[in-house]
Amino acid sequence: MRKMLVTGGAGFIGANFVHYWTRHHPEDRLTVLDSLTYAGNLENLRGVKDHPGFSFIRGDICDQALVEQILRERTVDTIVHFAAESHVDRSIHGPDEFIRTNITGTHSLLKAARQVWLEERSSGRKNGHRFHHVSTDEVYGSLGPDDPAFTEKTPYAPNSPYAASKAASDHLVRAYHHTYGLDVTTSNCSNNYGPYQFPEKLIPLMLINILAGKPLPVYGDGLNIRDWLHVEDHCRGIELILKKGRPGEVYNIGGNTELTNIEIIRILCSLLDRKIASDEDLRKRFPDSPAAVGKSSTSLISYVKDRPGHDRRYAIDPSKTMAELGYMPEITFEKGLRDTLMWYLENEAWWRSILDGTYRQWIRQQYGRGRDRTE
Ligand code: NAD
Ligand code: TYD
Repeated sequence: MRKMLVTGGAGFIGANFVHYWTRHHPEDRLTVLDSLTYAGNLENLRGVKDHPGFSFIRGDICDQALVEQILRERTVDTIVHFAAESHVDRSIHGPDEFIRTNITGTHSLLKAARQVWLEERSSGRKNGHRFHHVSTDEVYGSLGPDDPAFTEKTPYAPNSPYAASKAASDHLVRAYHHTYGLDVTTSNCSNNYGPYQFPEKLIPLMLINILAGKPLPVYGDGLNIRDWLHVEDHCRGIELILKKGRPGEVYNIGGNTELTNIEIIRILCSLLDRKIASDEDLRKRFPDSPAAVGKSSTSLISYVKDRPGHDRRYAIDPSKTMAELGYMPEITFEKGLRDTLMWYLENEAWWRSILDGTYRQWIRQQYGRGRDRTE
């Protein structure tokens, strides 16, 4: 039985991981540590809150004493580290919080793990710990149209403050393995999509804007390429790394689905147009969506000023993870996107409460303001 600490487990990927893990490993004990910034949402964990062995702690990964206490009291043997500031646009407007959480916060977790776990190891009380660090393909920089996809050996060349802060955290994780012998693994993955994604990222933002009949802001010429990975395939990849990954190693996780932003937006428009045209209830619920009055959602596409330093292309080569661990993405983009679209249609209350601020009000009533400076 594992005793796992999941940082950032109330965010998009962390919450999906918690659902995945409790489904596949119901016997394990799982503690989520999350400071509930604007991106953290307890509603994301509603389905697991009564799961035996699950508990939630609101706290900051920068609080080393708190993390040490959790590791000791709960005899944690595995940390899966998702907590981060994750949105590139926010990092351009305000990098400080990215440096604090992504670099100092990761370092604080590493210090706590070193303190508690290496002490347990040297006193012979316990062995077999694992610190898994979740990172991004953005650390490798931007690819030209004909460049080969990123491998684990691609030199780091981060371009945004977000990517630079993640790169720094990756280096710290590596250094704690080489210097102190901490048992670590790192995964670098491509753009995730799926349920519970905060509506500031491309896919949920476009989906919700189509439903509301609002403009779809396409940065630059819309021809930037991302390599899309369904969040469930990502979780499966992390599970394989935890089970079979070699300490000190880095594994790339990708979905083998390179698409331009404008392609994604056009696919979303067409999927939603067909769905709304064939469903009277949806036409009533979303009267401002172009499809409700027989128009195409592509009429909402609006080219806007490009993101500064916008990376042109990301592509992940997951062949090491496939060969060594048997990883294989299972969810096709077509199915994954349809399911995601259905999830947002069926969970309107979830995204409405984020957009109209009622969710933040509820969190403040439950917990006070905390130290969330990102609101
Ligand atoms: P997210 O922004 O949805 O969630 C981040 C979570 O971390 C939130 O619940 C937030 O409350 C929590 N958090 C932030 N600062 C904290 C702190 N100081 N202490 C404790 N908790 C804190 O992010 P996500 O999209 O789920 O990404 C998770 C991880 O995956 C990140 O490390 C990110 O860099 C990485 N990643 C994401 C993507 C993607 O497409 N979303 C792709 C590659 C890698
Ligand atoms: P995003 O979801 O922010 O992820 P990342 O920057 O980590 O790849 O953006 C995905 C792509 O979509 C990226 O090329 C920027 C672009 N984009 C837009 O064109 N318009 C938007 O409103 C957003 C949020 C993103």
